[in-house]
Amino acid sequence: MPRVFSGIQPTGELSIGNYFGAMQNYVKLGEQYGREAIYCIVDLHAFTNPAAYDKDLLTQRTFDAALTNMAVGLDPEKVIFFVQSHVREHTELSWIFTTQTPLGDLERMTQFKDKAGVLESIPAGLLMYPVLMAADILLYKADTIPVGEDQTQHIELTREIARRFNHTYGDTFPEPKAVYARDALRVPGVDGAGKMSKSKGNTIAILEPLDSIWAKLRPAPTDPARVRRTDPGNPDKCLIGDYHKLFSDLDTLDMIRTGCTTAGIGCVDCKKALMPGIERTLVPFQDRAAELRAHPDTVRDALAHGAQQARAIAQPIMQEVREKTGLFF
Ligand code: TYM
Repeated sequence: MPRVFSGIQPTGELSIGNYFGAMQNYVKLGEQYGREAIYCIVDLHAFTNPAAYDKDLLTQRTFDAALTNMAVGLDPEKVIFFVQSHVREHTELSWIFTTQTPLGDLERMTQFKDKAGVLESIPAGLLMYPVLMAADILLYKADTIPVGEDQTQHIELTREIARRFNHTYGDTFPEPKAVYARDALRVPGVDGAGKMSKSKGNTIAILEPLDSIWAKLRPAPTDPARVRRTDPGNPDKCLIGDYHKLFSDLDTLDMIRTGCTTAGIGCVDCKKALMPGIERTLVPFQDRAAELRAHPDTVRDALAHGAQQARAIAQPIMQEVREKTGLFF
């Protein structure tokens, strides 16, 4: 039986990139694998990026990230759902892996280079970020990891860490594989300038009011080849076309494809046609989030219970690691 694991950072409001790229798969795999699906809000990872970490906001953001996952359908009664720092073994295993991971492997991580490139002083934790991520996964001997494409290199490194450990200490960990959302490997940001990401300020949040979403979509770039209203366009080369694929029903998709390629519909109307799909998808999540916010203990209790369940799996695996690595116990 495969075991699913994934983590999500509490670095602000979760976006539709998080949703379509990863969270939707958490829910689907959760329905399939029940207690063998383990999800966690990785609060310790948030420390690694000074641009994202704020001591006064971390607690609230952790709560909000949990609430948003529950609002989109993650059911803590079915899966295991908890906060990373509540299971101390994550940092313990991370340290052991840190001592065994070549510096060069970490320095070539693209995400590290991107994030470190804009910092004056680089925290060592930013370099160690993927090691903590490997510990998150391997602490549960998980093998199926739903993530967006940007995490591919980190999962590869996790496989190498598992392989190295198994080679040194005997077969212990599986070599996990990433599972992607087919249509949302890399959801583009609303500025059309690459991946949707909080750090680029180009996100649409899952819990964002519709008028605020419209205010972002209205000026958003479209197919650059469509200079005049009378020019035909290509929805496959258009940010709004990409969003339609995520939100719209087949009739709307047909309508905008024909309209765009024959110049029968203007870009503003094409954007307007996106709003019903956005409303249909996000408003139920927003309603559910409001209910959960009115009953915050539902979220807190779920996380406390989830941490107990996670510990019950993690502790014997950590004990196995202690014994194999020669720690005195
Ligand atoms: P994070 O918090 O940046 O993002 C959470 C998940 O959302 C996906 N994602 C996207 N997918 C498609 N298009 C986008 N624009 C987009 N933006 C975000 C991410 O790929 C991710 O799956 N390192 C991880 C957190 C982590 C983790 C783990 C994941 C820590 N430990 C163990 C898996 C297993 C991260 O920063 O995700």
